[in-house]
Amino acid sequence: METKVVLLLGLLAVCGLSQASDVPNENQLPKFCRTSDCPSYQLVKKYDNFEHRQYEETRWVTTSLEQDFLGFGMVKSFRRLFSYINGSNSEGLKINMTVPVVMYMPLKKPPAGNSTMSFFVPHEVVNPPKPTDSEVYLERSPAASIYVKPFGGYAISYTYAKQAEKLAKELRALGLQFDDAYYKSAGYNAPFEIFNRHNEVWYKAL
Ligand SMILES: *[C@@H]1O[C@H](CO)[C@@H](O)[C@H](O)[C@H]1NC(C)=O
Ligand SMILES: *[C@@H]1O[C@H](CO)[C@@H](O)[C@H](O)[C@H]1NC(C)=O
Ligand SMILES: *[C@@H]1O[C@H](CO)[C@@H](O)[C@H](O)[C@H]1NC(C)=O
Repeated sequence: METKVVLLLGLLAVCGLSQASDVPNENQLPKFCRTSDCPSYQLVKKYDNFEHRQYEETRWVTTSLEQDFLGFGMVKSFRRLFSYINGSNSEGLKINMTVPVVMYMPLKKPPAGNSTMSFFVPHEVVNPPKPTDSEVYLERSPAASIYVKPFGGYAISYTYAKQAEKLAKELRALGLQFDDAYYKSAGYNAPFEIFNRHNEVWYKAL
């Protein structure tokens, strides 16, 4: 009897896993996050060229993004955030690097605000310490329904912008409602990682 139950549970577990692919459950983060902590989500629906995901509530540490053609502004913003996780905070706490690095890109102004860069605050940091740099701040994102277009290779701002345009077209073609006031880019790799690079663009579903 007991053996049968165990077998059945085992079978259920195997079925559950084979169905999962890159869809995380409570104890499993998406494969493309590799060894880093990252936000978890439920796959709502997989389309040909994009996915609909339901994300958990997340916390982020954010700074403004100075955009310029050469990307120096981006490096500055990255350094500010890196400094926060490297101990420039009220507790001198070192926080592990996470993924993705997210950039908020307004498409309309004024109401869509300024562009920003954010690091995900890992699950293990329950009470994130205050940043010491006045240009860095903590944010909470409520649980959200997001359309995500994943793509590979090295991505620069231009690449993300083009992919966002494509995603917007695909969403409109299917009559899916989304907030077109901004998109977010999500990068999952350090520059030195050459293979299996994973990038995404996000639109908030309405
Ligand atoms: C991180 O902080 C340590 C001191 O705790 C410092 O020696 C190191 O240079 C910092 N790293 C970066 C990349 O800022
Ligand atoms: C930070 O990452 C390392 C290596 O992945 C891991 O061993 C460690 O537990 C993490 N730190 C915390 C506070 O979880
Ligand atoms: C955008 O940036 C400008 C210049 O730094 C600032 O004056 C303005 O308050 C910012 N707007 C928002 C919505 O944060």
